[in-house]
Amino acid sequence: MKALVLAGGSGTRMRPITHSSAKQLVPVAGKPVLFHVLEAIAEAGLTDVGVIVGDTAQEIAAAVGDGSRFGLHLTYIHQERPLGLAHAVSVARDFLAEDDFVMYLGDNFLLGGITKFVEDFRNYGNRDAQILLSRVADPTAFGVAELDETGHVIGLEEKPLRPKSDLALAGIYLFTPAVHEAVESIRPSARGELEITDAIQWLIDQGRRVHSSVISGFWKDTGNVADMLEANRSVLETVEAVQEGYVDEASTVIGRVRIQAGAKVVASRVVGPAFIGPGTEIIGSSVGPYISVSEHCRIEDSEISSSIVLRGCVLTGVRRIEESLIGRDVEVEAFPRPSAVHRLVLGDNSRVQIPS
Ligand code: DAU
Repeated sequence: MKALVLAGGSGTRMRPITHSSAKQLVPVAGKPVLFHVLEAIAEAGLTDVGVIVGDTAQEIAAAVGDGSRFGLHLTYIHQERPLGLAHAVSVARDFLAEDDFVMYLGDNFLLGGITKFVEDFRNYGNRDAQILLSRVADPTAFGVAELDETGHVIGLEEKPLRPKSDLALAGIYLFTPAVHEAVESIRPSARGELEITDAIQWLIDQGRRVHSSVISGFWKDTGNVADMLEANRSVLETVEAVQEGYVDEASTVIGRVRIQAGAKVVASRVVGPAFIGPGTEIIGSSVGPYISVSEHCRIEDSEISSSIVLRGCVLTGVRRIEESLIGRDVEVEAFPRPSAVHRLVLGDNSRVQIPS
C-alpha cells in the first residue's frame, strides 16, 4: 500500500502567510502540519509516499527532503496547477500503479494518526474506498456525506449550500485502484476543479463498496487562521514538559512547557501548554497558554497567548496579543506614548485589529 500526500494548491485563505510560504509548512506546536501528516503515515507502516507539489515545490522539498528522517521514501510529483483533488490523483497515476493507497491532504490534521483506518482497510479487504467523516458546525465549507439509516453513504456533495447532514469529509481517504476509473469518468465541478468527492460519488453510483467511519477525535482542515490556531491548541494539549533550554531563577514556568535547546527564558512567566523553539529568547514577558513560538524569535517586555509566532520574529513592549498568527521575521514594537497613531508596515492581505 502507498500514500499520496497533497501539498500543492494556493492557500488563498491563509494569506498573507501563503504569499511567501506553503500553508502546509505553518508549524502547529512547533512542527509543520505536513510533518504531522508524514509522521502519521510512517506510524501506519507505509513507506512509499508520493507528494503532490505545485508553486511551492522548492520550499516543500527543502523542508521535507527525501523523507528519510521520517523513515519514508518520497517521490515528488509536480501538478502544474491546482485543478482539484481528483486531478492530483490522475497526475500521480504512474506512481500509484495498481496499488491501494491512502490519500492525505497536506493541510489536514488528525489527532491520533491513521494507523487504525489503514489496518481496517487492509484487514477487511472488501472495500473499494473508505472515507472518514467528522461532525462540523458549518458543513457548507466541506464535502458533505449523506448516510442511510444503516450508516451507509448514499450521497456526497462538495460544499453544498444546503447540506444534507453535518458530516464533513475529512481529508483522509483510502482507495483501491478502482478510483482511477472514477477519476477518468468525472468532469470538472462548478468551481472548475476535478473533485474527489465526485469521484467517490461515481463509485457509489456504480454500486462499488464505499465504507465510511465517523471519527470522534480531533480533526481540522487547517485551511484558515482560526482553524490553524485551534489545531495548535489541540496539539499543545499533548505536549510533554521538556526543558532543554535555559530558564533563569527569576522566571516561572507553569504546566506543560517544551523549551527547546538553545532557547532562553529570562525574568518571564511561561504558562503551558506552550512550545518555545530553539534559539528563541523570552525576556521580561508573560507567554502562554497555548502559544507556539518558532525558532530564533525574541519576545521582550510583552504579553502573548493563544498564538503561533513563526521564526525570526521580534516582539518588544507589546501587550496583549491573543489569537494571532505572526509570519516570519515580523517585528512588532510599542510606540512611545503619548501618541494616537499606529505605524504599520504590513504585507499584502494582512489583517490587524487595533483598539478604536
Ligand atoms: O479538508 C477537507 C476538505 O478538503 C473536504 O471536506 C473537501 O471535500 C475537499 O474538497 C477538500 O476541500 P478544500 O477546499 O479544503 O481543499 P483545498 O483546496 O484546501 O486543498 C486541500 C489540500 O490539497 C491542500 O493541502 C492543497 C492540496 N491541493 C489542492 C488542490 C485543489 C493540491 O495539492 N492540488 C489541488 O489541485
